Amino acid sequence: MKKIVIINGPNLNLLGRREPSVYGDTSFTDYLERLKERYADCEIAYFQSNVEGELVDMIQKTGFDSDGIILNAGAYTHTSIAIRDAIKAVETPVVEVHISNVHQREEFRHVSMISAVCRGVVLGFGLDSYRLAMESFLQR
Ligand code: DQA
Repeated sequence: MKKIVIINGPNLNLLGRREPSVYGDTSFTDYLERLKERYADCEIAYFQSNVEGELVDMIQKTGFDSDGIILNAGAYTHTSIAIRDAIKAVETPVVEVHISNVHQREEFRHVSMISAVCRGVVLGFGLDSYRLAMESFLQR
């Protein structure tokens, strides 16, 4: 059974209520339930934090004994060298995910500190970006 870890960064705990025109009106808890039903043959663990160091801790903790990490680092995507270093430090491949198409948004969102050290990037498909990232791990 494949073990996939989904890690969400700051403000993603507010999904469903936060800027619904950008991020939709579904909470991540509801979405995760559907994802777990769809991929019942996988173990899907979930962690969210608004704190940069806690995201680093979770990447370190799960990055040696899971098959894949799906990471939406939120705004830390654009700033965090600590998260980039953590991704580089572990063995588990990481797929970077964004709900919105960051390239259609403000210029500061066009830069990612982490893309270059991730296996791949899925962005702009709403919450479906997470499912597409799941598929990328199951194809292998
Ligand atoms: C986001 C895009 C980021 O720029 C933003 O800071 C987020 C969410 C996305 O999923 O579209 O918090 O990662």
